[in-house]
Amino acid sequence: MARISSRLGLINILHNPCILIVWLIVLTTFIYLWLLVPPGGVVEYHVYSPNFVEFNVSTDNVLHYNFTFNITVQNLNQKIGVYYDQIEAVAYYHGEKIGNVTYSTPFFQGKTAATFLNPVFTGSSTALRDSSKLEDFNREEKEGTFRIVVKLYLWTRYKFMFFNTPQHQQEIRCQIWFHVNSYRNTTTTGGCRMR
Ligand SMILES: *[C@@H]1O[C@H](CO)[C@@H](O)[C@H](O)[C@H]1NC(C)=O
Ligand SMILES: *[C@@H]1O[C@H](CO)[C@@H](O)[C@H](O)[C@H]1NC(C)=O
Ligand SMILES: *[C@@H]1O[C@H](CO)[C@@H](O)[C@H](O)[C@H]1NC(C)=O
Ligand SMILES: *[C@@H]1O[C@H](CO)[C@@H](O)[C@H](O)[C@H]1NC(C)=O
Ligand SMILES: *[C@@H]1O[C@H](CO)[C@@H](O)[C@H](O)[C@H]1NC(C)=O
Repeated sequence: MARISSRLGLINILHNPCILIVWLIVLTTFIYLWLLVPPGGVVEYHVYSPNFVEFNVSTDNVLHYNFTFNITVQNLNQKIGVYYDQIEAVAYYHGEKIGNVTYSTPFFQGKTAATFLNPVFTGSSTALRDSSKLEDFNREEKEGTFRIVVKLYLWTRYKFMFFNTPQHQQEIRCQIWFHVNSYRNTTTTGGCRMR
C-alpha cells in the first residue's frame, strides 16, 4: 500500500494533512463552481435604446459616426460574484472595425446585481474606403436599415465565497439594426449573444 502511494507521489500529502485539506477545499470549490456556472454563463447582456446621431459617408468616402446605446450587464447568479477587470466595446460595420470604447476601471458585481453601460462611439473612419464596403453602405442606406455589430470583450473573474477564479476573457456579440426613414429619423432594434 505504502509502495503504491509513494509511486503515485501521494506519500507526502498523506504525511501532511494540511496540504491534503487545502487540496480538498480547492477541488471541492472547483467542482462546486463547475456545477453552479450554467453553460450560458453567469451574466446576461441586454442592449436597448440605441441612439444614432450621425452615420454618414462624406464625399471623400470617410464614414462619420456618432451613436450610442445602453447595455445592462446583469449577474443572474445567486451565489457567485463577478469582478470585471476591463470591458472593451468594439464596433464593426460589415466586418470593418470603426471604433471602440474601453472601460478600464474595474468593478465588482454582487449576486444578482446589474450594471448599466452607455458607450458613446463617435469619430470618423476610413474603413469604407474599400469600394465593396461603400457599396454595402449605399445599398443599406437605400434600403433604410444599417446593421452594426458591437463586440464586448470582458475580462472577468468569478468570486465564490472566499475563492476567486483566474481571469478569463469572454466575447459577447451584439447586433444593432438601425432604421432610417427619408427624414433620417431613426428607430432601432438589437440583441446580444455569447460567443
Ligand atoms: C449625410 O450626407 C449627405 C451627403 O453628404 C448629406 O446630404 C446629409 O445631410 C447627411 N446627413 C446627416 C444626417 O448627416
Ligand atoms: C454626438 O452627438 C451628441 C448628441 O447629440 C452630441 O452632444 C455630441 O456633441 C456629438 N459628438 C460629435 C463629435 O459630434
Ligand atoms: C440610457 O443611458 C443614458 C445615459 O446613461 C441615460 O440617460 C438613459 O436614461 C438610459 N436609457 C434608459 C432607457 O435607461
Ligand atoms: C481601441 O482604441 C484605442 C485608442 O483608439 C486603441 O489604442 C486600441 O488598440 C483599440 N483596441 C482595439 C481592440 O482595437
Ligand atoms: C420624422 O421627422 C419628421 C421631420 O422632422 C417629422 O415630421 C416626423 O414626425 C418624424 N417621424 C417620427 C416617426 O418621428
